[in-house]
Amino acid sequence: MFSFFKKKKPVFSGNLGIIGTDMHSHLLPGIDDGSPDIDTSVQLIEGLTALGYKKFITTPHLMIDLYPNNRQTITSAYNKLTAELEKRKMNVEIKAAAEYFLDDHFDSLLEKKEPLLTIKDNMVLVEFSFASPPLDYKQKIFDIQMKGYKPILAHPERYGYFHSKPEVYDELRHAGCFFQVNLLSLIGYYGRGVQQAAERLFKKKQIELLGTDLHHERHLNNLQRPDLLQKANEIANALPLLNAQL
Ligand SMILES: [Fe+2]
Repeated sequence: MFSFFKKKKPVFSGNLGIIGTDMHSHLLPGIDDGSPDIDTSVQLIEGLTALGYKKFITTPHLMIDLYPNNRQTITSAYNKLTAELEKRKMNVEIKAAAEYFLDDHFDSLLEKKEPLLTIKDNMVLVEFSFASPPLDYKQKIFDIQMKGYKPILAHPERYGYFHSKPEVYDELRHAGCFFQVNLLSLIGYYGRGVQQAAERLFKKKQIELLGTDLHHERHLNNLQRPDLLQKANEIANALPLLNAQL
C-alpha cells in the first residue's frame, strides 16, 4: 500500500538555488563597504547566479556615520547597475532595498514618517551594532511596528553579546521580529560562537530567511564551500523559509 502521507524526500540541489531570492547583499557599486565599482558588482552577481540564485534584493547599509545613504543614493547606484546588466544582457532580476542600522537617524526617519525601503510589502531589514547591545531593543522593535512595518533582524547570530543570553532571541521573536541568518555563519566564517548561535536558531526553527550578506569576492569563495551548500540545503528542506516568496 502506498501512503498519501509519505514524507517528502529532502532535495540536495548542489547549489543555493533551493533557497529562493537572496535578500541581503551589498552589490550596488560604491555606496557602502560592499562592491566598490560596477565591474565588481557584475562579477559578484555572476558568481551568485552560478550558485543558483536568480533573483536579488540587494541591501546597502544605511548607517548615517559611515554610509550616509538615502533613497536617492541607493536609486542612483541601482540605476547604474541595472543599466550595465542590461547592456551585458544578463538575465537576472534585481531590486534594491536597504539594511537599516538602528541608530538615532533611523529613529528620526520613523518619526518623520519617511517611507522606508522595504524587502517586500512592509518588511524592513534592520541591524544592531556589533559592538554593544541596543539600549532598549524591544522598544526599537515596537517603534518599527507602530509605523506599520515588519522588522527582519539581520544576522541575529552575529551579535556576540546575545550569545550568553539565549532568552533574548525568544523575546525578540515574541516581539514580532523575523530572523535572517547569514549563510556564512553556518560554516564558522565569523567564528565558532556565531556558528553555534546559528545552529541553535536552526534547531529551534527560529529562521525565516537565509541571506548571503555578500560584500566581496572572499564571501563568494566561501559560499561555494561544499559544507555550506550541504547545510543550506538541509535548512531549506527543513524550514518553511520565506525567501522563495520574495
Ligand atoms: Fe549586510
